[in-house]
Amino acid sequence: MQYSKDEIDRVLVSNERIQARLDELAERINQDYAGRELLLVCILKGAVAVFADMLRRITIPCQIDFMAISSYGSSTKSSGVVRIMKDLDHGIEGKDVLIVEDIVDSGMSMRYLLDTLKTRKPASVRLLTLLDKPDRRRVELHADYIGFTIPDEFVIGYGLDYAEKYRNLPDVCVLSPKVYM
Ligand code: IMP
Ligand code: MG
Repeated sequence: MQYSKDEIDRVLVSNERIQARLDELAERINQDYAGRELLLVCILKGAVAVFADMLRRITIPCQIDFMAISSYGSSTKSSGVVRIMKDLDHGIEGKDVLIVEDIVDSGMSMRYLLDTLKTRKPASVRLLTLLDKPDRRRVELHADYIGFTIPDEFVIGYGLDYAEKYRNLPDVCVLSPKVYM
């Protein structure tokens, strides 16, 4: 896809590469959870694209639920103060939960979320993240399934936003600094 240079610096991960990687991760997940049932949890809003694409690759019995969290801070940095804006519709006690997230950056939102969900006594909780920015980690956090490890750059597209824009781009792109300078 052709993007405007004023907004998009470059494509970091093309949709084609994302789809190929999701094939690989789904194969692993379907094997890892064989004979079990899965509760897939989409973290709104950023994970909608990876969630929908992953959901259609899951071949074991599964249910879905949605959760929205917000971390206060400016639009390109998270503050570590996390709030649950929308909780799960149902309890997770005894369930095998797979959280689907767009990106782990400082790790603070996910650390808080994982710790919160673990108090609800699920059988297991694992984390799938499309993108991982380990250089920016401020807390101990390792995702179980990682799409792509990326450098410390602000990315948008394929669900990820800057000021609620660009979620509809098919590829993961680096935002041009011109947009926020
Ligand atoms: P963390 O708590 O710092 O790990 O922040 C995680 C959240 O910040 C993600 O779920 C995203 O919503 C947002 N975020 C972090 N890095 C980026 C990025 O490069 N682009 C878009 N959103 C980001
Ligand atoms: Mg997010």
